[in-house]
Amino acid sequence: MSNAVLQNIKERSSTRAYTTQPLTKEQIQTLVEVALQAPTARNDQELFFTVMNGNSALLQEINADFYASRGVANPTANFYYSAPLVILISARENYTFEDVDAGIAVENLALASESMGLGNVIIGCIKALLNGDKKAEYDAKLGIPEGYSFKIAIAIGYKGASKVPHEYNEATLVKYID
Ligand SMILES: Cc1cc2nc3c(=O)[nH]c(=O)nc-3n(C[C@H](O)[C@H](O)[C@H](O)COP(=O)(O)O)c2cc1C
Repeated sequence: MSNAVLQNIKERSSTRAYTTQPLTKEQIQTLVEVALQAPTARNDQELFFTVMNGNSALLQEINADFYASRGVANPTANFYYSAPLVILISARENYTFEDVDAGIAVENLALASESMGLGNVIIGCIKALLNGDKKAEYDAKLGIPEGYSFKIAIAIGYKGASKVPHEYNEATLVKYID
């Protein structure tokens, strides 16, 4: 069985190199809508999205701090693989389902990107940094509301490299009960 959604799920993989082609305002708007259309527990919509241009000074600042936290003073790479768009997802704390809801929203973005001919990679590596000692400072700069914390991000752009989707062993990961 196949259809467009199943094809996108099957063909999506993480893109870790992007071209410099920027996304259009329309593409970005479509992605924002896709994020907002994600279901949330009790329809509480307790997520918050920070939509960042890949060239933004704040993203460079986060990148420098991220690499500094790993002992790299002058990084030559960046955690978002120079994607033209990075969307950060934060959520209200102590809500029970905030992690699940953030995960659903990021997967909506991943699959929608794939369907739009765009590459994407989910980014969790900055979580400790954004929720660490400088959390208040970053929250203010990123517009993250009081009582919310960064959960996950996604980098999106035109693919500059391709990677085959991951493999899996169904026998060890699934149990069927009749
Ligand atoms: C919660 C989560 C966090 C991730 N964080 C990162 C990350 O910080 N950097 C990165 O390059 N990839 C990250 N990834 C991508 C995974 O490494 C990737 O999805 C996995 O290796 C499977 O490969 P595929 O996406 O190509 O199928 C993350 C994925 C998830 C689901």
